[in-house]
Amino acid sequence: MKRAEALHPLSREHLRALLAAKKVGEATDPEEAGRSFLEFWREDGQQHFRTEEEVLLPVWALHAPVDRAAVARMLEEHLAIRRDALRFEAGEVSLEELPEIATRLHDHVRFEERELFPKIEDSLGPELIGRLADALE
Ligand SMILES: [Fe+2]
Ligand SMILES: [Fe+2]
Repeated sequence: MKRAEALHPLSREHLRALLAAKKVGEATDPEEAGRSFLEFWREDGQQHFRTEEEVLLPVWALHAPVDRAAVARMLEEHLAIRRDALRFEAGEVSLEELPEIATRLHDHVRFEERELFPKIEDSLGPELIGRLADALE
């Protein structure tokens, strides 16, 4: 399914998240991984999560019954990834944890692109998606 235009900015940021996940997964030491992760987090990720939590979900909930399981999964994953950011900032991440952290970020993006965003597009429909675009501006 073609992504609604309103969601294009978020989808573009997802590409950057996937790139960061790849770098974390390929890193050979935790500091290098932390630099890649935190660069993504500070430039895009943190604001992206806020936009999803403070704009995307509330606009969806305003206009349609939300899929509660999908919302719960999204928020739980945001919490886990926010925790990863805090642990990288504190220099607490070990080499052994990198694959799991990379997979968490990667799978979160895939879930949103393949499951959550299509649900939002379907339940809002073209007209309300336009309002979502305004809100995301
Ligand atoms: Fe997200
Ligand atoms: Fe996202």
